[in-house]
Amino acid sequence: MDADFWHNRWQDDVIPFHKERTNHYLEKYFHRLGLADGDRVLVPLCGKSVDMRWLREQGCAVTGVELSEIAVRDFFSEQGITPSQRQEGDFHILEGEGISLLSGDFFALDSTHTANISAVYDRAALIALPDAMRARYVDHLLSLLAPEVPMLLLTFEYPPHEFDGPPFSVNEAQVRDLYANRRKVTHLETLDRLKDEARLAERGATQLHEHAFLLT
Ligand SMILES: C[S@@+](CC[C@H](N)C(=O)[O-])C[C@H]1O[C@@H](n2cnc3c(N)ncnc32)[C@H](O)[C@@H]1O
Repeated sequence: MDADFWHNRWQDDVIPFHKERTNHYLEKYFHRLGLADGDRVLVPLCGKSVDMRWLREQGCAVTGVELSEIAVRDFFSEQGITPSQRQEGDFHILEGEGISLLSGDFFALDSTHTANISAVYDRAALIALPDAMRARYVDHLLSLLAPEVPMLLLTFEYPPHEFDGPPFSVNEAQVRDLYANRRKVTHLETLDRLKDEARLAERGATQLHEHAFLLT
């Protein structure tokens, strides 16, 4: 998936991954991240996810990274927040009410942007990337974080030959391979989501499971 693919998605408003409700796994397992009031959560490839508003409501600060400036602007306008703006290197940063969204390429992030991150929430980020990019994503993400920073990671799994991603199928073994020797992977829960994701059934999926993992 190159940048144009995602820019076009946002330009054409073809964003079926965007949900109006807070993710159920986030609500259920947030406490496992062990965060204190004011701790900052990194949300890579954040889109305009309402999960960021929910994290803020739990008392967290949020840093999101997103290629599309449309998504970033929409997030603030839909949440009724008037952000301040500044340019910092490769990133256009919009910031308001404890939420800082960096518009630019995740792979251009460096540790100056993530020095104060206490946890990571990955929903539809790892699985947005094709196989060839996922190891690079994980290597870059881990290079930005202190080793003790926990992550909540959600993935979809389906028979990979049934349709072309995104979202790409990432099963537990693949998560363990990607994070091997660098994080302890705890499988939290798996739910059958085929009925809830009709768009993926329409694309050919006959099975669809959503996994939640805690990485510590
Ligand atoms: C499947 S969407 C998920 C968005 C969000 N996490 C959610 O749950 O709604 C993936 C997002 O990643 C963004 N994206 C893709 N590649 C990126 C990159 N290299 N850097 C920053 N954002 C990227 C896309 O623009 C898109 O909004």
